[in-house]
Amino acid sequence: MQTDASAQPRAPSLWSRVTAVTDYFAWPLRTSHYVELVNPLWASHSLQARVEKVWDETKDARTLTLRPGVNWRGHRAGQHARLGVPIGGMHYTRTYTISSAPERDDRCITITVKAIAGGRMSHHLVRQIKVGDYLPLGLPQGDFYLPDAQPVKPLFITAGSGITPAMSMLRALIAQQRLPDTAHIHYAPHEFDVIFGNELRAMAAQHPRYKLSLQLTQAISAGSAAERHFSAAQLDALCPDWREREVYACGPQSLLDALEQHWQGAGLSRRLHIERFRATQAPIPPDAVGGLVRFGKSGVQASADHLTPLLRVAEDAGMNPPHGCRMGICHTCNTRLLGGCVRDLRTGKLLNDVGAIVQTCVCAAAGDCELDL
Ligand code: FES
Repeated sequence: MQTDASAQPRAPSLWSRVTAVTDYFAWPLRTSHYVELVNPLWASHSLQARVEKVWDETKDARTLTLRPGVNWRGHRAGQHARLGVPIGGMHYTRTYTISSAPERDDRCITITVKAIAGGRMSHHLVRQIKVGDYLPLGLPQGDFYLPDAQPVKPLFITAGSGITPAMSMLRALIAQQRLPDTAHIHYAPHEFDVIFGNELRAMAAQHPRYKLSLQLTQAISAGSAAERHFSAAQLDALCPDWREREVYACGPQSLLDALEQHWQGAGLSRRLHIERFRATQAPIPPDAVGGLVRFGKSGVQASADHLTPLLRVAEDAGMNPPHGCRMGICHTCNTRLLGGCVRDLRTGKLLNDVGAIVQTCVCAAAGDCELDL
């Protein structure tokens, strides 16, 4: 009879046997809390990463090379992870795609962040983070990655910082020496805004199977405004065999919506794989109004418009409510409605039942309201 060796319980490591004893003396903490004081990367009760290098990709985009702690498990090319940053005494988290390939041999990962208008955390990461800083890190997540079985012919359609998951996949395919016939359409305002521009051009020069089409949407010499953005005619011209390809797309909502519509119209939706970093928003009635938001537990109140997520309203009012993905997936930000009315920005639906669960990252005030925060 054959047995599966991997199914056998593994013997505890020497370290875990030692800490099983030392934890007894460390109570009410754990040995890991003291180890963390020596080196935060050795802690086993939390996961942190040390900033090893910062590198400016463009005037407003920066790559951080991070060395994760011992709890890190490898990622798949295209996945993302949550990163935490303390700013002004508050703790913020955001999700960033890992832009490096899993094949790096130094156990480091990279994230590439673009400073966005009004983006508190992105500006902090791009302008303030220094080599040697430690940042709380989450484990890799997400199902936007290439299948193990090699896709026949991938087509990447990316824009701006949406290039990061595609870059991780391209780097991985090249590192594994299995780059298939690959087409890549990337949109950026100008040549100097192209994140990883030099590396992309070098890949295209070195790998004949990789066909890069850079579309510079603000460059006057690149044709009319309509010609510079995604359209059916442009797709036919740049990638005539798009119907035969597995598509991986990441970028602003307007581009992703246009792609969804186009592939749906062609009856090929199953071939389109999209990575979004914001929840899709429903149309909001033109007469929608915000209101006064009261946070019952903390006694804070703030006025809010009809579009700003309540999580952001709370943060702007100096609160530090729990949150994770900020796009309605993880439910970390859930709280209860104590009164009044809020709107779910994804569906446009109003919530006004007292006690209803409110996801503060995707709901906005719809008149005065009170939350259990
Ligand atoms: S922060 Fe993840 S659902 Fe709101």
